Amino acid sequence: MEYDVRDINLADEGSLRIAWAASSMPVLRLIEEEFKVRRPLEGIRIAACLHVTTETANLVRTLKAGGAEVVLCASNPLSTQDDVAASIVRDCGIPVFAIKGEDKETYYRHLKAAIGHRPMMTMDDGADLVSTIHQEHKDLIDQIIGGTEETTTGVIRLRSMEKDGALRYPIIAVNDARTKYLFDNRYGTGQSTIDGLLRATNILLAGKNFVVCGYGWCGKGVAMRAKGMGANVIITEVDPLRALEATMDGFLLMPLQEAAKIGDVFLTVTGNINIITRQHFESMKSGVIVANSGHFNVEIDIPSLEEMSSSKKRVHEFVDQYILKDDRVINLLCEGRLVNLAAAEGHPAEVMDMSFANQALATEYMTKKGRELERKVYGVPDEIDNRIARLKLSIMGKKIDELTQEQEAYLGSWEAGT
Ligand code: NAD
Ligand code: ADE
Repeated sequence: MEYDVRDINLADEGSLRIAWAASSMPVLRLIEEEFKVRRPLEGIRIAACLHVTTETANLVRTLKAGGAEVVLCASNPLSTQDDVAASIVRDCGIPVFAIKGEDKETYYRHLKAAIGHRPMMTMDDGADLVSTIHQEHKDLIDQIIGGTEETTTGVIRLRSMEKDGALRYPIIAVNDARTKYLFDNRYGTGQSTIDGLLRATNILLAGKNFVVCGYGWCGKGVAMRAKGMGANVIITEVDPLRALEATMDGFLLMPLQEAAKIGDVFLTVTGNINIITRQHFESMKSGVIVANSGHFNVEIDIPSLEEMSSSKKRVHEFVDQYILKDDRVINLLCEGRLVNLAAAEGHPAEVMDMSFANQALATEYMTKKGRELERKVYGVPDEIDNRIARLKLSIMGKKIDELTQEQEAYLGSWEAGT
């Protein structure tokens, strides 16, 4: 079996950590047990491009239990957990192409190694796999039944492909399941971003002016948790509704140009390009911390920061200190890549349990129905979303009420008024 990981001897450590994550992923474990019996993915070759974490290890193991032949590559050069990559290869017999800190060339070489397995299904986090197949491996497209997409940025790219008439096989937007974005994007990114920031810097958040750029599902989570740790949270937005929501949620709202002057910590999570740029760096106080949790490393204009600097020094494993020509200091975390996965371990297993249960069940659905679907981006079917929510609740020991027949009829009627 061909693979490319940092060191296969790290597998023992990876194996222990994968088992630890599994203990917090009961919904996925239940699906794995079902898959072992039903084998719904028998003979399906899946190329997965995901963050290589303990949670992902549990997902690919589940797909294999369902009969799939899986290959895994990294969806980000800095998010791979090398011990996990080693254990997936050694203990699950799944080829992995991922090394933490790989350069761009290696990242794409790894992606192409996964594509070399001639997938019948793709599982993406950010749409690099689908985009590369559509641009450079068109010959494979006819055999591809469909794919799934994990994150907001990937879904946006795929919807653009659909709009341009470029998308050549159906995709299920796992990100858009309520059991995904309401928990993963909000509580997962909220907690793990703070975790990454603190592991990278060990700063005190209490009393800091903490600027969150983007008040979407991820931004809401980060703002909520930063506030909980005593920071004065400032939101910047471009969407008037989300801006209004931020204000009524009790946060300060202002344009980034104003926030730049008073912020101590800046965190981008917009999925957009060039959010923090030269004009903002020019206004910042000396010693600020700048980080990103959005999918790509394009939210902070690093080329401008480089140009404005007279020197740069790595002062901590995940902190690059830029000394500007006017002697101010700007601390950039994780080269502008997702701070929660590069400096910490990504979302906790409890939330990935639901995200990856969606991935597993959406893959099964695509295997069965993909040939009937159009070349479009689809949502996760409600039956899957609701089933995952019910399972999660029941595993958590929580009970809810049920609609009576009378209530159901009332909700479906229009005649009765006051
Ligand atoms: P979202 O669409 O819910 O929110 C993005 C917000 O950013 C929107 O409200 C939008 O108006 C705002 N925005 C866009 N341009 C802006 C600008 N110039 N200034 C200020 N705000 C701006 O998306 P989301 O689900 O919150 O995801 C955000 C990003 O995080 C995406 O790239 C997504 O893929 C990524 N993501 C990362 C993780 C992680 O583990 N780090 C997890 C989930 C999603
Ligand atoms: N995205 C965010 N957190 C993650 C995790 N723990 N595993 C895989 N993908 C993730």
